[in-house]
Amino acid sequence: MDNWIQTAKELQARAEKLSKDGDSQGAAAAYDQLSRVWLTGASQSFSAEDRRIRMDQSNKFRELARKCKNGEATSRNQGNDNGKNGDGNNSSSGKIGKIRAQLDNDEIGKMLIAQVDGFAQTSSVTWDDIGGLDSLVSDLKKALASAVVKYPAGIKREASGDILLVGPPGTGKTMLAAALANSICLDGMTGRFYNVGLAGLKGHYQGNTEKTISLLYETARENSPSLVFMDEIDSLCTARGQGGDSSSRAILGVMLAEMDGMQKKSSDPKASFVLTVAATNTPWSLDSALLSRFGENRVLVPAPDASGRRAILEKLLIRQGYQLENASDLDWLAEDAQTKGYSGRDLRSLTSVAKRAMEMEMNPNLSNWKDLKEVSGSVVKLRALTHVDFRAAMKRVPPSITQKMMDDFRNWCEDPNFQPR
Ligand SMILES: Nc1ncnc2c1ncn2[C@@H]1O[C@H](COP(=O)(O)OP(=O)(O)OP(=O)(O)O)[C@@H](O)[C@H]1O
Ligand SMILES: [Mg+2]
Repeated sequence: MDNWIQTAKELQARAEKLSKDGDSQGAAAAYDQLSRVWLTGASQSFSAEDRRIRMDQSNKFRELARKCKNGEATSRNQGNDNGKNGDGNNSSSGKIGKIRAQLDNDEIGKMLIAQVDGFAQTSSVTWDDIGGLDSLVSDLKKALASAVVKYPAGIKREASGDILLVGPPGTGKTMLAAALANSICLDGMTGRFYNVGLAGLKGHYQGNTEKTISLLYETARENSPSLVFMDEIDSLCTARGQGGDSSSRAILGVMLAEMDGMQKKSSDPKASFVLTVAATNTPWSLDSALLSRFGENRVLVPAPDASGRRAILEKLLIRQGYQLENASDLDWLAEDAQTKGYSGRDLRSLTSVAKRAMEMEMNPNLSNWKDLKEVSGSVVKLRALTHVDFRAAMKRVPPSITQKMMDDFRNWCEDPNFQPR
């Protein structure tokens, strides 16, 4: 039996017992955790049918967590079908979104539902996984805190909590969004992470992307608190008059309406909490109406400087148990002379090339066996990594961020009308 299924069974038994014993807060926490386990199961499933069954289970337990939290759960509305009947959450909790119900009537609608459910993830990224970017992390924490705090009566709050992350490729935007999602916990409910790759979305099921966006926000509201991460938002929201086609404009309209809708509801303490975080490598191509929705929360995620690179390298090497020839090698590798222009992703590639070459050198038998038995279970020999290893890796993995890219981002931050040449 898969590990997660066993975990789910144990958690479900615990949640039901806690609920029976009248510990509704304990039961809520256990159901919330159970919902995450089913979500992980959904992300591991290979068939669409299986995935849907597991998503339904995940949603059902999420709803039960909420009911326990609010003292509404009774033993009658707590499911124990273990996902076998496939219509867990929505039917058993009696709650099904209007858009979802409409779409569920035909094949294309069912595909859109599967697509939206496919965006849901559990995030395990924590702030501690992120190297450097300390002040940026503080800014994001502040933006999230401002979105959840209450203001004294009479104070009119204008800004939404929605955040736009801009910066060159591989600098950690997706990681930051995942860490944000993971840190959302409201009224004992952990945040759901909807990771939406917009570039891929647009080509699929032509003409249906607006419906997908509406369904996405409906689902995110029902599974509140949620973080909707719109990656590569530039692929949808090109500036009006800059070649944005009619379908892009329609999608943009739906997105703006959804974001505005959430903002209006945010003054109601009972309303769902849905935070939109968007990311782009080309902020200068974004529609100004969209840009304005993010207010002050437009955050530049820059290429890491030497101290940022050192922090990332520390995570990629020392924290993973690898040794360096000299204690000062980390400082040496992070210097401008070595790794200026390397993004976090480039550094990950660089270190994995160096580690792999060292491992192949120390263990020639790994690529030279006749019978797999010769190597299976044997312990890999390792040695400390040296300047020579890193120099060889640098030849294979060049930096991807140029000075011009960095200047363009800085110029855009100072003047949103800036257009790179
Ligand atoms: N600040 C960082 N700390 C630790 N690892 C990082 C950092 N930045 C990037 N990385 C590494 O690079 C990988 C890619 O980062 P990520 O996907 O977050 O970049 P991105 O900015 O979203 O890129 P893109 O613009 O291409 O979508 C991460 O999975 C991680 O391994
Ligand atoms: Mg990304």
